Parts: sequence; structure tokens; C-alpha cells
Amino acid sequence: MIRVPEVLAEAVLSYARKLDRGDGSADVLQTPQGYQSVSTSALDLNKPVNVAQVAQRSPFRYPGGKTWLVPTIAAWLTSFSSAPSYFLEPFAGGAICALNVAFERWSRHVVFCELDGDVAAVWKVILMGQAETLANKIRDFNLTEKRVRTALSSKTNLSSLPLVDQAFLTILRNRVQRGGIMAPGAGLVKRGENEKGLSSRWYPETLATRILNIERIADRLTFRQGDGMDLIEEFANEPDAALFADPPYTTAARRLYRYWQFDHEELFRKLSSFKGDFLISYDDTEEVRKWSKKHGFGVKAVAMKNTHHSVMTELLIGRDLSWMDRSISPTKPGTQLALENV
Ligand SMILES: C[S@@+](CC[C@H](N)C(=O)[O-])C[C@H]1O[C@@H](n2cnc3c(N)ncnc32)[C@H](O)[C@@H]1O
Repeated sequence: MIRVPEVLAEAVLSYARKLDRGDGSADVLQTPQGYQSVSTSALDLNKPVNVAQVAQRSPFRYPGGKTWLVPTIAAWLTSFSSAPSYFLEPFAGGAICALNVAFERWSRHVVFCELDGDVAAVWKVILMGQAETLANKIRDFNLTEKRVRTALSSKTNLSSLPLVDQAFLTILRNRVQRGGIMAPGAGLVKRGENEKGLSSRWYPETLATRILNIERIADRLTFRQGDGMDLIEEFANEPDAALFADPPYTTAARRLYRYWQFDHEELFRKLSSFKGDFLISYDDTEEVRKWSKKHGFGVKAVAMKNTHHSVMTELLIGRDLSWMDRSISPTKPGTQLALENV
């Protein structure tokens, strides 16, 4: 234990967190300008998010991944008078927000949930003592198109395999399928996506490091496989919880995920009696706006560029979004760059 004057406490803690993040140094070194902690005070939706500000923590390149939203999540959670006891991500997929919250300690504990058994296998393996085995499997896989096809075609039902093999093949499939698509039957990355083809998305050392880094903070993370709606119910009466819901969107989800069917209105109903705070991201459709209005939730449109550089509008929904006005310039619709999940 070290005693420091109270005025220095925040600075010392912030330094300690940076040291703690030595965990991310391997990823960090790959960013051209080096990694800096996400600055929440400077959050401005009118400017693209600086890639170097958001560390890539997830081994997935998840479709609909929320790297671009991390600075907004930081602004939200740091607007609380103290870090919330729980950060909940009920529809986690690649869990980009959950991981960043845990690494940065924007909440004391993170609980995340996913229904897809293959995706769940990855989180279970990492958090339940087999991270090293998974990392080694990734390092040892000598990627050629033939080996990929053999590995992925022989067993379509990965759930019949030992958990660590299920996890390995899920990551392999996610990295080499077009757009990281998790729905069955997606084609492989073609030359068009990057001249190097399949290997353009396979960075064994980086992936192994991400996996081992997550294991190092396993005590801050709890993973549940199951229906995210049950997680919402479980924490419904916990006032010191912050919940981020990124459900399969009302359009396009079918193409991207195995579990794309979703009772959207039920999510709004469940969150209207949730005692803690919440933030939902959605596609901008009339229905989503209608449900938000019906339940008296605030809505903010965020203009963002997708990875094909087309400008799209997404919605952020919450009970009270006034923290956004304090940290984000409301003058123009914000433009955020949808960082590619690499
Ligand atoms: C938009 S993606 C989440 C992406 C994530 N925010 C990220 O950064 O990678 C939605 C996820 O919800 C999952 N899902 C669908 N229905 C679910 C349910 N009822 N409970 C839990 N997860 C569900 C899908 O499998 C998919 O992985």
C-alpha cells in the first residue's frame, strides 16, 4: 500500500491504470501513433474518432462491432459520480465495449452474455483457464487456403468438438469469412478484400496476445451463455448497473448472425423497468423511433461512416442522454468513423 496526498490520488491511479494496461502493449505497438487512453473530455461526435485512441482488445472482427462507440461509452460511464458496480452487455458478440470497460476500469465488474454457442466457447475458454491452449493453437496454425477449407468444412457443427477446438475454429472462421460474418454459410475472404486474401485477417501473434491479455483481467469479467433478456431481468433491480444493449439490428442482422431473430419491442419493455442506467444502439428506423417514444426514452442520431465510407445514421437511446450534451457538441449531426474491427 502506498499513501499519497488526496490531490495526487487521481493522477497516481491513472498512472497505475496505464501500467496495468501494459497488458495491451503488444496491440498498442501496432498502432502508428501509439496507444493513448481514450480522452473522454475531448469527445466530439463531429470529428472522426482517432483510431489510435481505441485499443483493439477483441480476438473477433465482429460484424456490427462497436469500436467506434468506445469513446462514447467512456463519456457515459465517467459521467457517473463513481464507477458503476456493474457494466452489463447482454448481446455481446465480440464484446468490444465490455472488454474496454474492464481494461479501463470504467466499471467495477463486467458481465457479458451471448447466445451463440460458438462465440460463447471463445469467451468460456479464455475466462475459464484455457486461454494459453487457445493462444498456442492460433500460433501453431499454418494458414493456407487448403488448411482453412479442411479445418472448416470437416465439421459444420462445432459444438460436437472439445470446447477449445470449438473456440479455435470459431475464431478461424470469423477471421477468414467475408466481413467476419458469423451466420452459417458465409464465403471466405476473397482477394478483393485485400490482395493478400485469407491471411490478410489472420495475425496469430496479435490474436494470441489479445487472448492472453483478456485472461489477465479475467477476475473483472463474468461471461454468461444464454439469452441476454434473462441477464437484463436478473439485474433489473440493481440501481448501480450500467447496461449497454447492442442487439441484432432490425435490418441486415439475418445476413450477419446465427441468432438474428429478436423481439425488439420486448427489449424496450424490459429496459423501461430496469433500475440502473442503460444505452442502446440501433439502426435508424421508424419502428425503433416509435418504440423509444412510446417508452419515453431519449434518442440521439449519430451519423457515422461505415467501413465502405458510406455515411449512415445510427441511433443511441437512453433514459436520460443529457450526459451527451455535456461531452458532445450538439451543433451538427456527429460524424464518427466506424473503425474497422481488426
Ligand atoms: C450487434 S451484435 C453485437 C456486437 C458487439 N457489440 C461487438 O462489439 O462485437 C449482436 C449479438 O447479439 C447476439 N444475440 C442475438 N440474440 C441474442 C439473445 N437473445 N441473447 C444474447 N445474445 C443474442 C448475436 O449472436 C450477436 O452476436
